[in-house]
Amino acid sequence: MSADDLKRQAAAAAVALIEPDMIVGLGTGSTSAHFIDLLGERVRGGLYVAGVPTSEETAKKASRAGIDLIEPDETTTIDVAVDGTDEVDGRKQLIKGGGGALLREKIIANAAKRFVVIADASKKVAELGAFPLPVEIDRFSYALTVRAVREALAGLGYKNADARLRATTVGPAFISDGGNFILDCRLGRIADAPALDRALKAIPGVVETGLFIGLADEVFLAGPAGVERLT
Ligand code: A5P
Repeated sequence: MSADDLKRQAAAAAVALIEPDMIVGLGTGSTSAHFIDLLGERVRGGLYVAGVPTSEETAKKASRAGIDLIEPDETTTIDVAVDGTDEVDGRKQLIKGGGGALLREKIIANAAKRFVVIADASKKVAELGAFPLPVEIDRFSYALTVRAVREALAGLGYKNADARLRATTVGPAFISDGGNFILDCRLGRIADAPALDRALKAIPGVVETGLFIGLADEVFLAGPAGVERLT
């Protein structure tokens, strides 16, 4: 079974949780794309839900799937948010933002009454940090923010940390939907994710980090033996 098949199985487990008239936060990335696709099938079968997209890419996918969309600033309620992840540990702590949508994803995950994470089992790790941690930073005087991030990482003991601006194939730097840069921080191993998150968020210019701590209510992890549910 391919990783893509497993992503679809995890997505199917989450789609089964969706009930009529729910307001559903729609994540970004390839696993979320399966969720949107499968939710679209249920909508075409007569289910009514409204989606709140976490990125412009997701808004386009959801519209194509026939899901009604609510702009995030037009609602104060999200019943459930469903999103993929780049890493998840045994405490349901996540690294997200590989697709650059971490800020909007975190706003929606935090607002949702229930945040459900979907992934293939390769995303499960004993300790976070092998995946480079995305950190969204304001573009104003970004070199100063990059320097401050590097200093904070060194101060926390990440001696060989490498924090660099995400590039794109079409321009000098990746720009998020919110108009910000993304710094990818290669840390290797994150010993204390909440402490790292606090230290980075304390730096003026850091908009958000890809550390999702205490947000996930449950995780559906699809492996060859089936879908495991972490609660
Ligand atoms: C988007 O910014 C990310 O947070 C994605 O949710 C994450 O990278 C997982 O993506 P895949 O489902 O494509 O692996």
